[in-house]
Amino acid sequence: MISKCLYPVAGYGTRFLPATKSMPKEMLPIVNKPLIQYGVEEAVSAGMTNMAFVTGRGKRAIPDHFDFSYELETEISGSGKEAYLKETRELIEKCTFSYTRQRQMKGLGDAILTGETLVGNQPFGVILADDLCLTDGESVMSQMVKLFEEFQCSIVAIQEVPTEEIHKYGVIKGERIRDDVYRVETMVEKPKAEDAPSNLAVIGRYILTPDIFDILRNTPPGKGGEIQLTDAIMTQAQQGKVIAYKFKGKRFDCGHVDGFIEATNYVYQNIYKANS
Ligand code: G1P
Repeated sequence: MISKCLYPVAGYGTRFLPATKSMPKEMLPIVNKPLIQYGVEEAVSAGMTNMAFVTGRGKRAIPDHFDFSYELETEISGSGKEAYLKETRELIEKCTFSYTRQRQMKGLGDAILTGETLVGNQPFGVILADDLCLTDGESVMSQMVKLFEEFQCSIVAIQEVPTEEIHKYGVIKGERIRDDVYRVETMVEKPKAEDAPSNLAVIGRYILTPDIFDILRNTPPGKGGEIQLTDAIMTQAQQGKVIAYKFKGKRFDCGHVDGFIEATNYVYQNIYKANS
């Protein structure tokens, strides 16, 4: 069983300034729910209950969100408005939430390594909350947990992306072992389109085995002078221990305004309106 999910949430969210000046980008709402809550709900749907956050300065709204708000809850107690907090309360009751701070922005790999103290020596999920993944049925993380149970190695989510977008992603190449499942042979962080090994881009969902921490400790800075998670996973891939999975579902890049608006419209039409 994988019980822990790690959320690297220390980034500044500069693309959304001024909205993110004093508010974490992960608290930006898609309609009425913050991005980070979609991420936590996805982990819960995959059987995970220990949520671990690698935070930074200015992110206090996240721990506040996953805690009771007595004044507010007393105020709305007994009214119809209580229903708005039902899902959030259920998460708070079901899960534990722990936090540690990344001192410097040294890359996604460094953020994951900072989370070691919260994760310990067990396989764990990673969700990048600004990649919003929505499905009709089983969540993406839940699909990945099933694969982990079968392969017992690190799993990365992938999606085909158009050539002009390739430079934004970690890109894999691998041997296709069955429909939608590849054994990763190569992984490159943000290559130029002409140097990319394929058009299969890594999306912000991972299941990692805990040897990743020792590998990260020994991974030198890569692309952009940052410690890259992609480089560490590539070390696991050299031992044949990484599976890439073309997940079933939709993914919205909420780290960019266009993807954020697309997600907002989609959720409004297909989830919010449909259920109200
Ligand atoms: C990170 C990873 C990249 C991955 C992407 C998915 O990049 O480094 O490999 O493809 O997330 O969203 P970032 O978007 O944080 O620059």
